[in-house]
Amino acid sequence: MKKIKLAVVPGDGIGVEVVPHALKVLDTVAEMHGGLSFEYEHFDYGCDYYLKHGDMMAADGMDRLRESDSVFLGAVGDASKVPDHISLWGLLLKIRREFELEINVRPAKVFKGIQSPLRNPKDFDLVVVRENSEGEYSSVGGRMYHGDNEIAIQNNVFSKRATKQAMVHAFKLAQSRRRHVTSATKSNGIFHSMPFWDEVFKETAAGYKDIDTVSQHIDALAATFVTHPERYDVIVASNLFGDVLTDIGAGIMGSIGIAPSANLNLNGRHPSMFEPVHGSAPDIVGKGVANPIGQIWTAKLLLDHHGEEEMGSLLLDTMEQVTADGFLTPDVGGDRQTDDVVDELIRRLK
Ligand code: NAI
Ligand code: MG
Repeated sequence: MKKIKLAVVPGDGIGVEVVPHALKVLDTVAEMHGGLSFEYEHFDYGCDYYLKHGDMMAADGMDRLRESDSVFLGAVGDASKVPDHISLWGLLLKIRREFELEINVRPAKVFKGIQSPLRNPKDFDLVVVRENSEGEYSSVGGRMYHGDNEIAIQNNVFSKRATKQAMVHAFKLAQSRRRHVTSATKSNGIFHSMPFWDEVFKETAAGYKDIDTVSQHIDALAATFVTHPERYDVIVASNLFGDVLTDIGAGIMGSIGIAPSANLNLNGRHPSMFEPVHGSAPDIVGKGVANPIGQIWTAKLLLDHHGEEEMGSLLLDTMEQVTADGFLTPDVGGDRQTDDVVDELIRRLK
């Protein structure tokens, strides 16, 4: 029996609503599989924990999370209780940094039954691989002087190691897909880092002759992402470019509530973390209408990561049959509750 040990951090807001549903779904998948089981350790880290203990997680929190095979997280943040920069840096970003989750993988595709805001969305199905540890989001720089003389300097950091690592991940992923990688660049405008990015891309591509490649400037890419998303298979992007592109990806799918993400550790020293793209959605919390698909699709990415691609595909395909038959929460134009969608999914899985 293969056992996957998950550290479960529902977090705040609708995270607490959708995570238990996704665990029920994972248990159903394990039951169908026969040779697979999940062991959960639950952590109540989040804004309520902060109000009680003065910190977003226990002092030994990271060590306890590290004992798991993967972290399964809902959402973090409740500004009515704790300022966002404290809650996110104290939990979500802390895990991303300390567990060296250097790659962020975010798929986007036409989801059956869910209306894309695009008038004529062709059958797009793409994955953005985002470098998640450096690039534009570095802490190198500073501010000096005051008033009208104030200066802010923010240095971009691109290491060969992390750049190449993200690209290799993209190429490997493309080998299991449509064998096409797009590099998001801006070497016409950014003088040092982006020509470097292009060189590393070329060098990496030379090792994957079976994959077609194209380099596209991020501005043009952003436009084509909206007009012709079906042209893309795997896109590799720096931290900032990837951040923006993946939100466009969530946008063209029709709701942030369905977008999943995987934050991967590649050196094997820490667990990876799986979380939906959406936040804690305070405007709908407690109403029972949170779209569970983001969390459930995230569970699919987790299954894939642990070598259970077949179960992962079955899960997502069944989820799509459920939405295609009109089981939709209000954010995607339906009138169903979270429960209705999940119950129907579990019924069909069984
Ligand atoms: P948000 O993603 O929580 O909500 C944005 C809009 O999308 C809201 O109208 C919300 O109702 C809707 N929405 C989000 N997820 C949904 C779902 N599953 N089903 C139906 N509708 C959904 O982003 P917002 O409002 O900017 O942030 C709220 C809180 O979440 C803040 O404290 C923020 O810091 C935090 N946050 C946390 C993230 C994380 O844990 N990864 C990511 C983004 C925000
Ligand atoms: Mg973002």
